[in-house]
Amino acid sequence: MMNVLCDGRRKMPQGSKREYGSYCGNYTFDGTMLTTYVDDSGALLRAAGPQGAVRGRAHDPGGERAMETRELAWERLSPLSLQEKEDKMNADAKKTVLRMIPYGIYVLTADDGKGNIAAATVNWVTQTAFAPPLVVAGVKTDSGAYQVIKGAGTFALNMLGKDQKSLAFTFFRPADVKDGKISGQAYRQGATGAPLLIDAPGAVECRVTSIVEQGDHHIVVGEVIEAHLNKPPGGRPDAAILEMKDLGDNVFYGG
Ligand SMILES: Cc1cc2nc3c(=O)[nH]c(=O)nc-3n(C[C@H](O)[C@H](O)[C@H](O)COP(=O)(O)O)c2cc1C
Repeated sequence: MMNVLCDGRRKMPQGSKREYGSYCGNYTFDGTMLTTYVDDSGALLRAAGPQGAVRGRAHDPGGERAMETRELAWERLSPLSLQEKEDKMNADAKKTVLRMIPYGIYVLTADDGKGNIAAATVNWVTQTAFAPPLVVAGVKTDSGAYQVIKGAGTFALNMLGKDQKSLAFTFFRPADVKDGKISGQAYRQGATGAPLLIDAPGAVECRVTSIVEQGDHHIVVGEVIEAHLNKPPGGRPDAAILEMKDLGDNVFYGG
């Protein structure tokens, strides 16, 4: 609810009970410049702005009084559309708040059996169920990795250790398979055919159970069907993993 001053517009004939028959005001409501026309009782006649008409109701606390300027309380009736909400959202706040989500760093690999091998560093990963054990990964739809994963129907998530920052940077670029190595890294084929990095402390192999196709990254859901522990962690397993914050003050993926 907000108050707005409306100027009298349609002058009533001499001797009428009211001086003006309608009132008009220009003001900003919910970030939108609006021109409203209200009749004498305060009921809304019309409200229009650059984003189209806005539905609402004007209340006239002045009641029956005739005057040149009336203070009207404007109340929006229709909720903001999702698009309007997104337009109003503070972009800097959105970026910073989303970057508060902590992420581990993984190399997602897949082999479609037709000569296409993918290996990409990803961070949008989490487990989502115990039974069956499910993990999800947000995968860029225009990446080579996305195509290979779809073709393969399987993938592996290679965990990176705290000291493997350079490996993370290696797989930010498209994978280069040469001399039995991926981008210079030794690997072996897992049960699903997905490449397992020899130097990774651990890896899980997954069968793709579904792909949620929304946004510029699709959510690949995978059921974990194999696990490989190459280097058992000394303490908490999650303390052994390379994290986004270990990559440097200015490295982010998200926001
Ligand atoms: C810090 C960082 C995190 C990334 N996280 C993801 C991710 O979660 N999902 C994704 O699809 N790509 C992510 N990428 C981009 C991939 O690493 C990159 O697209 C891929 O390695 C390129 O190879 P490709 O196009 O051959 O798959 C990230 C990149 C950076 C720099």
